[in-house]
Amino acid sequence: MRFTIHTYGCQMNVRDSEAVAAMLAANGHAAAASEDDADIVIVNSCSVRGKAEDKALGKLGLLCATKRDRPGRIVGLMGCMAQRLGEGIFKRIPLLDFSAGTRRCCAIPRLIARVMAGETNIHDVSRPDDMPDVSDAHCGEGFSAFITILLGCNRRCAYCIVPDVRGPEYSRPAAEVIAEITALARHGVCEVTLLGQSVMRYGIANAVWPDGAASPGGLTEPFPRLLEVVAAIPGITRIRFTSGHPSGCTAELARAMRLFPNICHHLHLPVQSGSDRILKLMRRGYTRADYLAAVRRLREAMPDFALTTDVIVGFPGETVADFEDTRTLMDEAGFDNAFIFKYSPRPGTPAAAMKDDVPAAEKMRRNQLLLADQDTRGEALNQRLVGSTQEVLVEGPSLRNGKRWAGRSPGNKIVVFDPPDGLRPGTLAHVRITRAAPQTLYGEMMGN
Ligand code: SAH
Ligand code: SF4
Ligand code: F3S
Repeated sequence: MRFTIHTYGCQMNVRDSEAVAAMLAANGHAAAASEDDADIVIVNSCSVRGKAEDKALGKLGLLCATKRDRPGRIVGLMGCMAQRLGEGIFKRIPLLDFSAGTRRCCAIPRLIARVMAGETNIHDVSRPDDMPDVSDAHCGEGFSAFITILLGCNRRCAYCIVPDVRGPEYSRPAAEVIAEITALARHGVCEVTLLGQSVMRYGIANAVWPDGAASPGGLTEPFPRLLEVVAAIPGITRIRFTSGHPSGCTAELARAMRLFPNICHHLHLPVQSGSDRILKLMRRGYTRADYLAAVRRLREAMPDFALTTDVIVGFPGETVADFEDTRTLMDEAGFDNAFIFKYSPRPGTPAAAMKDDVPAAEKMRRNQLLLADQDTRGEALNQRLVGSTQEVLVEGPSLRNGKRWAGRSPGNKIVVFDPPDGLRPGTLAHVRITRAAPQTLYGEMMGN
């Protein structure tokens, strides 16, 4: 049967969708050319904000309506909302054929076989702390791959649903991660992004290295040690990882990022707020000063370091003064890019018991202000790169203008340029920057 998967949410979901697609292909199914063409449609859902869930529910409703005209079409749900709602999903979407929790990706081909045999409303949501069945299956397309190295999260920030839906931390053994990346590199992958909700906690809640194994460079912390080994895998020219947390920005991490030339000098380090009072209510485990100290450590090790972040506006009790603290912190930290979210209460989280007292219009105002600030800041930072030559990993035709091509700099900035004939995605090109916009650099390709 022909399948398609709609993915909402973070990179971890993108990776899970890819693994499921690869497993379905291995079980005799084939990717559909379009959704209209698909006999199996799976929605991979996100629960992080109310809006994300509404989108997935809306999509599922529409898909199930198409079953009237397409008897035999299978509609399934996976991901964080499947985990959160459990069996309750069938009350909302009665025609849904199956729903698989976050640690049940590997079961999906079997669930589909059961639906084909006549069952429906199958629910396979294991307890979130069950041992995960991690798939190392990839689709074998492209030059860039996501690798989940750390599942779950143990931090329990007050606003966040992720620990409930993704379960406690589990770090995959280093040998397994290295084997997966080595195999990908043999198939032409040159860029890997290591994924974890708090990725620098890799190897902290459970051991990942064999007893007595030593780091060639004398590193002692599990995550920098993993970077050291991945950096040595032949064919891997770029390494990224996300998301960071200030407590993981140790001197050893900064040293590893400086030392291994294929580690990109970029970090996504969500700050959430610049107010110590709000950070405490959020249970983030750091102060504004701790955050800025972590940034300083990284900038000292890497003068060309690029920094991006996430911010929540309108957390319960956030005053105008707290919000102004966030604005000044954003200037001090000098973010290259920032994703701004309006606080959304999530059922069962500690913050859901607090009064969601910032009015929607005020959340919107704060959101718009931070976006405007970030546009100005992003453009000013990008202006400084005009005249420089950036190493760009070529992705392909630019989204806005297909005649021009785009790729990413080590700092994860989009760089747009005119491609020479015969240029292939996955090439490392050198582009001299001639113009800057808040989110994009433009330039001329000098060679590769
Ligand atoms: N693991 C990552 C973030 C995962 S969720 C980390 O710890 O940094 C991605 C982003 O969504 C978060 O950084 C936060 O900014 C935002 N977010 C999470 N819960 C939210 C909520 N209840 N309301 C609004 N934004 C939220
Ligand atoms: Fe959520 Fe905090 Fe864990 Fe990130 S670190 S996933 S924000 S609980
Ligand atoms: Fe969303 Fe789940 Fe990721 S809640 S942000 S898809 S871990």
